[in-house]
Amino acid sequence: MAEARARRLFLALWPNSEERQRIAALTRSLEGGRKVIAENLHLTLVFLGASDSERLRCYESALQGLRVPFMELRLDRLGYWPKPRILWLGSGQATPVLAELVGILNQRLSRCGHKPENRPFTPHVTLIRKHPGSLSNVDVSPPIHWSTRRFALVESRTDNTGTYYQVVSYWPED
Ligand code: 2AM
Repeated sequence: MAEARARRLFLALWPNSEERQRIAALTRSLEGGRKVIAENLHLTLVFLGASDSERLRCYESALQGLRVPFMELRLDRLGYWPKPRILWLGSGQATPVLAELVGILNQRLSRCGHKPENRPFTPHVTLIRKHPGSLSNVDVSPPIHWSTRRFALVESRTDNTGTYYQVVSYWPED
């Protein structure tokens, strides 16, 4: 029988410590809103949501043998979504490798009941929540380069001190 406790999961690119420090320094330099703590910075590929152990096993087997491409990101632009009031870091260039990977992930995971988002994938790192706006389309100079050959399965946990993300595993595995 499936374990009752559902874990809140997502797939993400997880920065190494150097990339994380650079993104955190950029965040610190920006005014306003609630800054995401350095440990939580990431780029979501697929949000999976509450998943019990049976669902997680299905995801793991659906991802078996997946070829993960080399992904190179040039993070050089700030974006702003007014409705959720999120200030984010993204790229002025299209990142087809990432979009293709997300398409493959959604396709493989759909056999487990995963429902892909309707909106198009916009690669972004959320930097600040509840931001008043005003920094949309600002160039980030120098750009932050982030390259990786793997992505992470991450668990989101919330307690009375805040929300924390914990890497469960990597693809391909270490
Ligand atoms: P973000 O990627 O824009 O920062 C964990 O909740 C992560 O999954 C967050 O980083 C969050 O937003 C992302 N995410 C994507 N879709 C989500 C949803 N429907 N609910 C909660 N988080 C979502």
